[in-house]
Amino acid sequence: MSFTADRLLLFGATGDLAQRMLLPSLCALHADKLVAENLEIVGTARQPLDDAAFRNFAREALEKFMPAERRGGMATFLNRLHYQSLDANDMAGYEALAAKVGTPEQGLAIFLSTAPNLFEPTIAGLSRGGLTGEKVRIGLEKPLGTSLETSCEINDAVAGAFPEARIFRIDHYLGKETVQNLLALRFANILFEPLWNAAHIDHVQITIAETVGLESRVGYYDGAGALRDMVQNHMLQLLALVAMEPPAIFNATAIRDEKVKVLRALRLIDPDETVTGQYRKGAINGQPVPGYDDELGQDSDTETFVAIKAHLDNWRWKGVPFYLRTGKRLPERKTEIVIQFRPVPHSIFASRGALTVPNRLVIGIQPEENITLSLMAKVPGLDRAGIRLREVPLDIAMADAFAGPMKRIAYERLLLDLIEGDQTLFVRRDEVEAQWDWIDGIRASWAEHGVRPKNYTAGTWGPSAAIALTERDGVHWHE
Ligand code: BG6
Repeated sequence: MSFTADRLLLFGATGDLAQRMLLPSLCALHADKLVAENLEIVGTARQPLDDAAFRNFAREALEKFMPAERRGGMATFLNRLHYQSLDANDMAGYEALAAKVGTPEQGLAIFLSTAPNLFEPTIAGLSRGGLTGEKVRIGLEKPLGTSLETSCEINDAVAGAFPEARIFRIDHYLGKETVQNLLALRFANILFEPLWNAAHIDHVQITIAETVGLESRVGYYDGAGALRDMVQNHMLQLLALVAMEPPAIFNATAIRDEKVKVLRALRLIDPDETVTGQYRKGAINGQPVPGYDDELGQDSDTETFVAIKAHLDNWRWKGVPFYLRTGKRLPERKTEIVIQFRPVPHSIFASRGALTVPNRLVIGIQPEENITLSLMAKVPGLDRAGIRLREVPLDIAMADAFAGPMKRIAYERLLLDLIEGDQTLFVRRDEVEAQWDWIDGIRASWAEHGVRPKNYTAGTWGPSAAIALTERDGVHWHE
């Protein structure tokens, strides 16, 4: 049922995500008058706070995490906030929570960002408190399980109270403007689509590199690792957007139908098509940083880096490797997709001594959005000693092309879509399950072959085996 919620209930309201992303995003939407005047926001968490204390807490978070120039509407925004403390395991508490939420005129949107073991009691509590009716939708933040089985348990619990049409699974990469632009690049231009297949593309690379380390997420990260923290969700969503067939229409069903077909076409891979690593002390931007084991305070087999040679068993992509890599404490923060085209079928320049280099499309997702197409051009001259050709870039810096519109946080878009009920940028259950299925296969083969992460020095591009993974196919990682 379509409705725009006039109540938003934020679980985990005093957590890190709320402070860094959710409260700043909501404040920005408020300042830009993108949410209705009557939207009330109720925060809930364990901490015993009242409305006034929560507003103070929110003000401090906004002052810390929001640029001063975007804090214009802060004072009036804080008036929208209310708070009810809750122990998610205590069923009696949900009645008080429901009383605090009150009866929305139009509907309620719930944003659930909670530890995986609290999903089930929370859903049970919401049912008990009467917070699951037809005019309620729920957004779920990762981690949604640690395997296909545990993710199904969570999905089943949620499905017991909400139909799929009212479940909004969040992958914040889909909220990034630059990720959405992949659809525009592919399907609003005639140029690329005829070439977007195994006949013309040699391979694809996707890199999500981070400079940060463990940060303060010891409890979560060491139990997850790079494969489950980044590949299972963000990396596979990028892959699906790059590899999917053109949907017939821009809507949640059509786009997600096409993505899930890609995810189901992922081939189960051999352990020698993956490389895992864990950072040791090193330096990033000239600053010394500790190793993962030092940050953790103990030894661990958790991978902080993973590189994978993935394959899609379908007509379009047969024989085209997708090289994926992601890691923490790499030399720079960079998310990038490289489409490496095949060579021209016959070079007319070979007889004149000139080499042609195959075209390459580099789609920079973050920190800056740049699209670069490398083309061959003739070096000017009279060519007495032969023709010389050279690669020249056709460069588009999106920041220059769209200097007007301001850059928004991914969560601004996602929260607004949750409030208004547009599921296009949220992950459907069948997608999540296909993602987990593939990841579980990799983890099972690591366990079977006793794969342990190799060390790499912080500030480098992962273990040398990650370089060998592509070099043995004659491919260089794009750096
Ligand atoms: C999160 C991961 O989902 O994404 C983090 O849990 C990671 O480990 C983060 O740092 C990266 O997001 P972004 O938007 O900074 O690329």
